[in-house]
Amino acid sequence: MSGERLSGKVAVVTGAASGIGAAIARRYAQEGARVVLADINEEMGKAVAKEINDAGGKAEFILTNMRDRAQVKQLADTAFETYGKIDILTNSVGIMFSKPFLECTDEDWWEVMDTNVLTHIYAMWEIIPYMEKQGKGSIVNVSSKLGSPRPNDREAFYTFASAALTMVSRSAQMDTAKEGIRINVLAPGVTRTKWTENDERAKKFADPAAVPMGRFAEPEEIANAALFLASDEASYVSGLCMEVDGGHVGGEHVTAQD
Ligand SMILES: NC(=O)c1ccc[n+]([C@@H]2O[C@H](COP(=O)([O-])OP(=O)(O)OC[C@H]3O[C@@H](n4cnc5c(N)ncnc54)[C@H](O)[C@@H]3O)[C@@H](O)[C@H]2O)c1
Repeated sequence: MSGERLSGKVAVVTGAASGIGAAIARRYAQEGARVVLADINEEMGKAVAKEINDAGGKAEFILTNMRDRAQVKQLADTAFETYGKIDILTNSVGIMFSKPFLECTDEDWWEVMDTNVLTHIYAMWEIIPYMEKQGKGSIVNVSSKLGSPRPNDREAFYTFASAALTMVSRSAQMDTAKEGIRINVLAPGVTRTKWTENDERAKKFADPAAVPMGRFAEPEEIANAALFLASDEASYVSGLCMEVDGGHVGGEHVTAQD
């Protein structure tokens, strides 16, 4: 699929070196956006940018630790100074984290909250001022279906971070909507990335048979939803948490049984 739904747009995609973020970067480029990929994984990030450029798209990779506010500012400044605008910001940085609640530590808390929530906040803090200057901008933050009221066991911190990200995003859009900025949340169900392929626990609890559609999402299916939210087609959509989960719609989650 390719088209012009993002023709002329400049998009910053964080967490773009793999999984959902990489699929989103590819999809935006297919629709004509110039994509600035940011990630802490230089090798994979550069490979995704090269793949996009080789396919005729426009992409560059900027090595960025999104937990470091100074580096995030550098990313925002470089993208704006190079291209003169930032139309779209999509944040897909995150780590999976699974541990029995009583074994979780302070360090675990900050690891999950810093990576899964604060990175998105830093990106919004540094890029929204540029969007305000333009009078327009669209932000998509990738959270998780587990931020909904039905969490999994052993994922208290991950679940909390997902819910926190959703609510921070929905609240932030109330402060920026009049400046022409839309902020939406994408909440995927289990998606086939390196996490679901390699993680033993994921293999145990993530049962495709428990999904009404009987299968996990492909990253490209999540990217298609991001594309809609990022594009002008969603011009009156803001503060939405869009669940893309194969039909769970608040239904039962699978629980981990060793
Ligand atoms: N895969 C799933 O089943 C699933 C389901 C629901 C939600 N999600 C969410 O989607 C997002 C992406 O998940 P994924 O499956 O694509 O994972 P992934 O590990 O493939 O991608 C995450 C990316 O974030 C990058 N990253 C991590 N810390 C960083 C940092 N400090 N600075 C810059 N980059 C950093 C990683 O290098 C990686 O490229 C996560 O927030 C995850 O919680 C995933």
